[in-house]
Amino acid sequence: MKKILVTGGCGYIGSHTIVDLIENGFDVISIDNNSRSSKDILTGIKNITGVTVKNYLVNLCNFDDTHAVFQEHPDITGIIHFAAYKAVGESVEKPLMYFENNNQSLINVLKCAEEFSIPYFVFSSSCTVYGNPEHVPVTESTPWLQAQSPYGYTKQMGEEMVKFTIGSNTMKSVLLRYFNPVGAHPSIQIGEVPIGKPANLVPAITQTAIGKLPEMKVHGGDYPTRDGSCVRDYIHVSDIAHAHTLALHYLIEGKNETAADVFNLGSGNGYTVLEVINAFESVSGRKLNYSIGPRRAGDVIAIFANNDKARKQLNWSCQYSLEEMMRTAWDWELKMKNDNIKFTNLN
Ligand code: WQD
Repeated sequence: MKKILVTGGCGYIGSHTIVDLIENGFDVISIDNNSRSSKDILTGIKNITGVTVKNYLVNLCNFDDTHAVFQEHPDITGIIHFAAYKAVGESVEKPLMYFENNNQSLINVLKCAEEFSIPYFVFSSSCTVYGNPEHVPVTESTPWLQAQSPYGYTKQMGEEMVKFTIGSNTMKSVLLRYFNPVGAHPSIQIGEVPIGKPANLVPAITQTAIGKLPEMKVHGGDYPTRDGSCVRDYIHVSDIAHAHTLALHYLIEGKNETAADVFNLGSGNGYTVLEVINAFESVSGRKLNYSIGPRRAGDVIAIFANNDKARKQLNWSCQYSLEEMMRTAWDWELKMKNDNIKFTNLN
């Protein structure tokens, strides 16, 4: 079995990707310092796959500790690098924390990948690299505009670091630009585990609906969109996860056209915040307590993907609808309450 190192493996997309990798015959190890995640998610992965994944509690910003993991596993065939802070609003408040964490961790992983000649590298990028696009949907060749947040800027720099490093080696890479990952694994054994008050829309909705939060604020109702709220491309986290398995196969089978092929991972549908709330209310049967508040710094007005390239070249397609995204997100919130799940170091 090919061994894949997943950094950020206890995180939201990382954990769902590990499930998909195992179900598709890969051997997986994880590096995650649990600064924004909980090791308990590994239990959920075991409940789904029967596999106990080893996680190294290592801060990737520490080169020596990171290097030691590669020394212990000289048979690593590929790396999927998720580990990063990812809250747009927080990055506006704490830019240096984002630049240091997201860039230094990537530099250390790339240094090790180079030293140990790891052939395949998948980088977790983001639609935030497009900034506030003038036209939607965006394709992979849509020119980048100024990132609207330090988070988005770390992803722009990250893509360039990967491209220049890979380009000077025999390695091959894929850069996956996620749109808005939401929902939970259909088994409801794993899902999104926000730390503190959720920044992202869907956990804010489900936590308000279940009573953890008194009210949800819609950040802005006066945008030039069909109902005044921002437009995003929501995509089920399991669809995102499977794209990583397909990206590894794409690299292993030598199909990539450049040293760093780029793919948009979005559903191709743009929904407003209010439309997502409506979809949640119809799926859950609950009326959401929300009000329209001021705009949030760092938000783009509208963005959604043209996903033709990933569908054609990765042979990938989205399996989950917006309603199924809301259904699994709500089921996960209900499970956490009903089973009184408390995640180590997060609750
Ligand atoms: C979505 C919309 C908010 C919370 C995310 C990830 C980022 C990247 C891109 C992968 C915006 C509005 C939110 C709330 C609200 N993905 N909102 N009330 O900012 O698009 O970024 O996708 O890399 O990592 O964070 O997602 O869910 O924060 O916001 O009105 O309580 O929902 O203003 O319009 P965003 P989000």
